[in-house]
Order: sequence, then C-alpha cells, then structure tokens
Amino acid sequence: MAEEVLQGLGSEPKFISPKYFYDARGSALFEEITELDEYYLTRTEMGLFDTYLDDMAGSLGEGVCLIEYGSGNSRKIRKLLEAVSPEAYVPVDISNEHLQENARELHADFPALHVYPVCADFSLPVTVPPEVDELTRVGFFPGSSIGNFTPLEARRFLTGVRETVGSGGALLIGVDRKKVVSVLEDAYNDALGVTAAFNLNVLAHINSRLQADFELDGFRHLARYNAEEGCIQMFLESQRDQDVNVAGVTMHFAANERVHTENSYKYDRAEFVELAAGAGFTAEAEWTDEQEWFSIFLLRGN
Ligand code: AVI
Repeated sequence: MAEEVLQGLGSEPKFISPKYFYDARGSALFEEITELDEYYLTRTEMGLFDTYLDDMAGSLGEGVCLIEYGSGNSRKIRKLLEAVSPEAYVPVDISNEHLQENARELHADFPALHVYPVCADFSLPVTVPPEVDELTRVGFFPGSSIGNFTPLEARRFLTGVRETVGSGGALLIGVDRKKVVSVLEDAYNDALGVTAAFNLNVLAHINSRLQADFELDGFRHLARYNAEEGCIQMFLESQRDQDVNVAGVTMHFAANERVHTENSYKYDRAEFVELAAGAGFTAEAEWTDEQEWFSIFLLRGN
C-alpha cells in the first residue's frame, strides 16, 4: 500500500486508487451511500432483480455454477441463489476474511449449496475448482462495479471472465447508464455529505495505515461528470498550500491542487454491447427500468 500510495501522490496529476476507500468505515459509508435518495443505482438495480428475477433465472437454466466477482453483495446474491437454485456457488474476493464470513453465513441458510470460495484478485482470470467442470458457469457482477474500471480495464476484466466461464457460459452484470448530467452529479454530491465523507475517509485510512498526517479539513470533496470520458470523476482538492508526511515521505499539495480518487463510467446500451463483444460476449438479454437509468445484461460467451 505504501508503495502504491506514494507512487500515486508522486504522479502528475496526483491520484489515490479507489480500492483504498474500503476500510471498515469506508465500507460502512458506502452502505450508507446505497441508501441515499440521490444514489439511484442500488435502488434501481434491486428493483430490476425484484421484478425480473424469474425471467433471469429462466434464461440461466439448470445445472449452473454461479461465480460472484467480489462477495460484498449479500442481498443480491441471496435473491439470485433462491431463484436460480445453482448446483454450486463460487464467491471470488481478494479478502479471505470476507470470503470465509460470507461462505459461513450462506452455508447456514442454503445447506444444500456447494460453496467453493476462491481468494483472488478478480481483475485477473480466475481459476475455478475442478468440482464445477460439468456445470454451466455464470458470472455475477452487480452494482455497476464495472464502472470503476477504465474502458480498457473493463475490457480486460470481461475477457478474463469470458475465459473463466467459457463458450456457452454467461455473465449477469449491472451497468449504470448515461443520463441527464444533473442526475449523475447529484448521485455523487448528496445533500447529506455522505459521499464527501466517503471520499475524505481515504485520507483517514492512509493516516492510520501509513502513519500519515493528512488533515481532513485541508481537503474538499469534488465530483463532476466528464462528458468526453463518459464518467463521473471524484477528486480531493487541497484547500491550501500544505505538506503532508506519508510513510516517512513529505508530499507537497498546492492550494486547489486535486488528487484524483475515482472514475465511475456510465455506458450507453450500444457502447456496452460493443465493449462486451470485444471480450467475446454476445448480449443475450437486457433488463432495464422505465427511465433506462440502469441495466442488467445477460452476456453469453461466444
Ligand atoms: C462501487 N461503485 C460502483 C460506486 C460507484 O457508484 O461508482 C462507488 C461510489 N463512489 C461514490 N459513490 C459510490
């Protein structure tokens, strides 16, 4: 972490990887974000699962092995497990602690389900256990987490999933759609300031992990839509000229200098279908809300 944070803060422009948002407080703040009025993503996706679950399960068929990329979506996976009744479930997560906890909880509620946790970085192709060889592999990646990858990283990720699920395998994926800019910007600039607290918390996380001395009131949360890139970009803007010690290194921040902390890409239908095609997938089905703010795609491996 020290090496990566120092490299980011030593770059021009400065950046911090969004993966450092998620310490215990950051994860709790993200949970709060998902409940906010302005943050329509989670609510809209959950609505789609509620409305179209049977249809989704029907499209997936029987003899399925469900592979969940990142195992922090317990409400969504439970709905899907109930509807699909897969033979096996493979949660993939970088955190072994999350994996074990998740597997324990699911085992209690779905005693017949075979759970094979895989501790891995899912941005790389994942090797699934041989026990599921005969089953149809279906990846599950909800929440528009794909949006936090650049399009190039997204394509790499999808290519890795395609390799893992194979020809005839599938991926059920949640994607946030392009829409009126004010709706997008409000979702990342909520009135209660929860997203601001979430963004600033990355500095508190660095303080505690790397013996750094960021003063949180020395920075301000900024989120705006970059129409050219097609993404919301989040920054922390230095409120004054200041020096901060990070892991024994002094870093300088000029007044108004920005540290880039996150991209959240939004996709038109055609853009996403094309991205998926580049990774060897055909869009077999799409479920979307009335306003077409969010889509769940079923991609099939060619
Ligand atoms: C996890 N990810 C899909 C969220 C998003 O909307 O990009 C992270 C987030 N950042 C600020 N608010 C929510």
